Formats: sequence, structure tokens, C-alpha cells
Amino acid sequence: GTPLLVDRFGRIATDLRVSLTDRCNLRCTYCMPAEGLDWLPKPDLLTDAELTRLLDVAVTRLGVTDVRFTGGEPLLRPGLDEVVAATAALRPRPRISMTTNGLTLARRAEGLAAAGLDRVNVSLDTLDPARFRTLTRRDRLDDVFAGLAAARAAGLTPVKVNTVLMRGVNEDEAVPLLRFCLEHGYQLRFIEQMPLDPQHGWDRDDMVTAEEILAALRTAFTLDPEPGGRGGAPAEKWLVDGGPAVVGVIASVTRPFCAACDRTRLTADGQVRNCLFSRTETDLRALLRGGASDEEVAAAWRGNSWAKAAGHGINDAGFSQPDRPMSAIGG
Ligand code: GTP
Ligand code: 5AD
Ligand code: SF4
Repeated sequence: GTPLLVDRFGRIATDLRVSLTDRCNLRCTYCMPAEGLDWLPKPDLLTDAELTRLLDVAVTRLGVTDVRFTGGEPLLRPGLDEVVAATAALRPRPRISMTTNGLTLARRAEGLAAAGLDRVNVSLDTLDPARFRTLTRRDRLDDVFAGLAAARAAGLTPVKVNTVLMRGVNEDEAVPLLRFCLEHGYQLRFIEQMPLDPQHGWDRDDMVTAEEILAALRTAFTLDPEPGGRGGAPAEKWLVDGGPAVVGVIASVTRPFCAACDRTRLTADGQVRNCLFSRTETDLRALLRGGASDEEVAAAWRGNSWAKAAGHGINDAGFSQPDRPMSAIGG
């Protein structure tokens, strides 16, 4: 069979997360400064042809079954529909998803669904327009609502909503956000904030923990663990008021799921990372541009996987953040 992306701990990476650009059209305070970051120069980015070739290697030589497009904001990548269509043409066809801020999804959802996108996860931290403007530095909440509705209408389902709760910012919105998602048929997940901000200002005490989130939700809903395992998925799911609706909690910090990790990541500049928090990257772009064969590229990718650490180490003494922020690694 296919020589898979395995590591020393017996994990197999079948889920590829591809950052299509490090740019974004929001400026969420926990993710980017108002002026933005030093964007990758254009020649450093993988071309569509290079990207498509790496996707082919991942699927046909490395056993990748799931492809997720991320950013920055993946909808800002020119030619996204073509990249999705090329991915959908691979055999065996991978499942294809995207994580987006949703701003321009209203006019893109149908085309992306037609190109082969299966589903989307949309980031939404508040339901309040003024708070949205403060948090993201843009006045675009209505565009996110329209994007969510368009995704559902285009069949990009289940539509998932990702929320990062922050102390003193939006921690009072757990219940209203869940009511909103139940009403519209979106699957809400709350995410513990991780130390991946460019300012290196993450503070454990500012992080709203899974335990706190569940306690807040239980003031208004009953939650029971969803039967059946989570596989490699980060979200622990709970049945809301007996189901069938569910809410998820992604407790990356207080309940790490690294032991079940099934991910490998490709940055927009063609570097493979075996973890969000890895210290090293493997330069596949250099291999491609140097004339390497598909099998040579696959071998380098396997080598990167093999070196994967047991876990992210956020809770260990002496932990230090990776150099690249979340927006450059891919969420
Ligand atoms: P689904 O397949 O829809 O469950 O996707 P997902 O939850 O894996 O993907 P998404 O891009 O929506 O990620 C949501 C959040 O999960 C991110 O913002 C991260 O906080 C967290 N996350 C995703 N991948 C990883 C990972 O490899 N490690 C850790 N620690 N957290 C991750
Ligand atoms: N920790 C956890 N999640 C984060 N996101 C952005 N920065 C962080 C962080 N430091 C989330 C966004 C979005 C997803 C792609 O990643 O809110 O939902
Ligand atoms: Fe953009 Fe996502 Fe960062 Fe917000 S969290 S600025 S949407 S990359």
C-alpha cells in the first residue's frame, strides 16, 4: 500500500491543512496588529501548479484523505475555485473543507460548492456589531452572517462556527452564540486560545478554559457527551438538550489531543510542518524548484512526519512559542 505519513509514536497523518495565503481582510486583535504583518513576498508563494502538484503527491503517494484550505483568509487566494477543482479531481478523491472568516463567502459559496468544496468552518467571535468592529477592526458582521447563510444554502454542510472566547472581551456570549447557531442550524465549537499570536502576548489567565465554557453553557442547556469517539478531531462534542444538535469544545491547552493528532500542514510558501508548534519546517518549494521528482518530494515529507514531537508542550516548563504566528502557519 501507500507508504503513509507516520511518526515515531505510531500516529498517521491523513489530514492535510493547506494555508493558501498569510493575508487577511480582518485584523482580529488576537491575531494581527492593525497595520497587518510582513506578508510573504509573491515569489515565495507556491504557484497554483506547484500547489496542485503537492496535493497530488499528498493524496496519491502519502495517503492523505482530507484536505482543508486555510489562511490567513483562503478566500483571498486568486484561483481558489481552480485549486479546489484540481483537488476534487484527485483519486482517491479527498474530502475538501475550508476554514474562513466568511466575509466574502456570500458571493463565493455556490461556485466553491460546484468546484468540489464539501464544507466550511466560519470564524465568529461575537454577535454584536460594535464588538465585532472592535475585535476585528472592520465593520463587517453582516457580511459574516450573509456568508454563513450562503454556505448553508449551497450545501457546504455541516456549517461549523469557530469561536474563541476571551476574558473581559466576549466571554459573556457563550449562551447567545449557541442559541444563534441552534436557530440557524450551524454547529458551534468553542476554542481555547493558544499561544500563537504575533505579539507573543498570550497569557494563560486570559484564556477561557473548556471547563469554564461548559459551566457557562450549563446555565442554559443540558449537555451530555456525544456517544462515539472523536477520532483525530480536536472537538469534544456534547449533545445539547438531548440532541440531535451538538456543541463542540476544542480544549487544545487544558485537554491536549496531540496523542491522536492526524495532521500535517503546508504553508503558503511551501514549507511542511508536522505540528502548529513545530520548530522545524521542510522546504518542499525548494525541492520542487530544484527539479526533484514526486518520489523525492514524498520522501522529504515522510521525513518531516517522522520527526514529529509527542505534543505541543504548551503546558511544559520552558515552553516557547513558534516563530511564525497562526496566520502564517494556517489555523
Ligand atoms: P473539523 O474537521 O471541521 O473538525 O475541523 P477542525 O476543527 O480541525 O478545523 P478548524 O480549521 O475549524 O480548526 C478549529 C480550531 O481547532 C483551530 O482554530 C485550532 O484552535 C484548533 N486546531 C486545528 N488544528 C489543530 C491542531 O493540529 N492542533 C491543535 N492543537 N489545535 C488545532
Ligand atoms: N488560538 C486558537 N485559535 C485561534 N484562532 C486564531 N488564533 C487563535 C489562537 N491563538 C482561530 C480563529 C479561527 C481559526 C482559524 O483559528 O478564531 O476560528
Ligand atoms: Fe484573519 Fe483569522 Fe486572524 Fe481573524 S483570526 S485576523 S480572520 S487570520
